[in-house]
Amino acid sequence: MSSVRGEFSSRFGFIMAAAGSAVGLGNIWGFPTQTASNGGAAFVLVYLVLAFCLAYPALMAELVIGRHGQANAVSSLQKLSKNAFNKRFAFAVGFGGIICAGLILSFYAIVAGWMFTATLEPITKLANMPDATVWLSNQSLARDLIFTSIFVILTISIISKGVENGIEKWSKRLMPALLGILFLLIAYVLIQDGASEGLKAYLVPDFSSILDPELLVSALGQAFFSLSLGTSVMIIYGSYISRQENLVSLGAYVTLIDVFIAFVAGLLIIPAMYVAQAQGVEIFSANGQLLSEDTLVFQVLPALFDSMGDVGLFVGFAFFALMSIAALTSSISMLEAPVSYAVERFALSRLQATWVIGGLISVVSFTIIFNFSDLFGFVVSLTTQFGQPLIGMLCCVFVGWIWQRNNLLTEIKNGYPEADNSFFWKVWPWYIKFVCPVAIALVFIHSQ
Ligand code: PHE
Repeated sequence: MSSVRGEFSSRFGFIMAAAGSAVGLGNIWGFPTQTASNGGAAFVLVYLVLAFCLAYPALMAELVIGRHGQANAVSSLQKLSKNAFNKRFAFAVGFGGIICAGLILSFYAIVAGWMFTATLEPITKLANMPDATVWLSNQSLARDLIFTSIFVILTISIISKGVENGIEKWSKRLMPALLGILFLLIAYVLIQDGASEGLKAYLVPDFSSILDPELLVSALGQAFFSLSLGTSVMIIYGSYISRQENLVSLGAYVTLIDVFIAFVAGLLIIPAMYVAQAQGVEIFSANGQLLSEDTLVFQVLPALFDSMGDVGLFVGFAFFALMSIAALTSSISMLEAPVSYAVERFALSRLQATWVIGGLISVVSFTIIFNFSDLFGFVVSLTTQFGQPLIGMLCCVFVGWIWQRNNLLTEIKNGYPEADNSFFWKVWPWYIKFVCPVAIALVFIHSQ
C-alpha cells in the first residue's frame, strides 16, 4: 500500500507544505487583529509562550500519529487502538477532524474569495474600469458565489495533482513569494509617519494584562487555529513524511515559521494602523480601544492604501495577493484531509475524490453565503472554538494514554536515533499526557 501513497520528496518540501498550511489568514489577519484588540505586546508575549509550550507539543502528537500510521487520519488513529472501543473512539476523532477541516474550508473559501476581489480591485482602478471596481467592492451574492467558486476550483486543481506535484510543488512556489511580498510591504510601511508609535504598541508590553484569562483564552485559540491543529490536517501531512526524517526538528521548524510569520505580519499591520491613524483614518476610540475589529482588513487598510494615491494601488494589490496566497496554501491542506480519507477508504481515484469532496464543500459554502448572517459566525465558532480544541485534545489523549510508551519512542527514534536521551523525550511524553489535555480543556471550558 505504501508504494501507491504519496510522500513529500524532501525535507524542504515538507516544511513548506506544513508551514503553508499553518501560515494563513490566521497569521496575517487573525493574529494582528487579536494583538490590537488584546492590549498589544502583552498578547504577543503570551502567544509566543503558548505556541511553543502547548501548541508545539500538540502539533508533535498529530505529526507522530500520522507518520506512524502512514495513512489517512481515521486509519492512523485506528492503528494505535488495540480494542474495539478504542477503534470506535479513533474513528470518531479522525472523522471528526476531517469534518472540521471541511467545514473550516467552507467558510475560509468565502473569506479567501473576498481576498481575490480585493486583489482585483486595484487592477480595475488602474485599467480605469469604474463599473468593475464598484461591482467588486460591494458585497453581493453573485460576487461571493463567483469568487468562492474560483477559490475552491483552484484548491481542487492543486489537490487533484497529489502530494508531490500538487501540494509540495505549489507550497514551494507560493511560500517564498509570500515572504517576499510581506517584507516589501513592511519596508514600505515602516518608513511612513506614525509607524514608530505602532512599533512601540506592538513591542513594549504592558505586563499588568498578561494574566488576564480572556487574553490567555484568545492566545491559545489563536495558536491552535494557526498551527492547523484538531483538523486531521497535521496527521495526514505527517503521514507523508519519510521514516528517515527527524520529526521533532521538522515540527519545530514548522512552529518557528508559523510564529515568525504571525510576528512579522504584526510588524506590518499594527504600524500600518498607526500610519492610517496619522493620516486621519479613525482606528482607535478615545480610550484606545480598536474601533473596528472585523473591518480592519477590509476598511482600515484599504483606507490607508487609498490615502497613498497611485502607489497605494500597488501596495493594496500586493497586500491582498499576499492574503490570497496565504489562504491557498492553507486551504489545500484542509481539502487534503477528507480527500486522503476518501481515496484510501473507498475505491475512488484522487481526481474523483477531489472533485466530489470539493463539490460537497462548495455546497456548504453556498449555503453559508445564502444564509450569511445566520450561518457564517456559527460555523466559525463551531469549528474553531469547539471542534479544533476538542479534537486536538483527544489526539493528545491518544498519544499520551492509548499509545504504548515504548512503541511511541520507537516511532520518534526513526530519523532521530538519539531521541531517548533528548530534552524532548524527557519532557514531551509527560506534557502530552497531562499538561496539554488539561490546559486545552481549561481553555475550552472557559471559552464556552
Ligand atoms: N492555519 C491556518 C491559518 O492560520 C488555518 C487552518 C486551520 C488551516 C485548520 C488548516 C486547518 O489561517
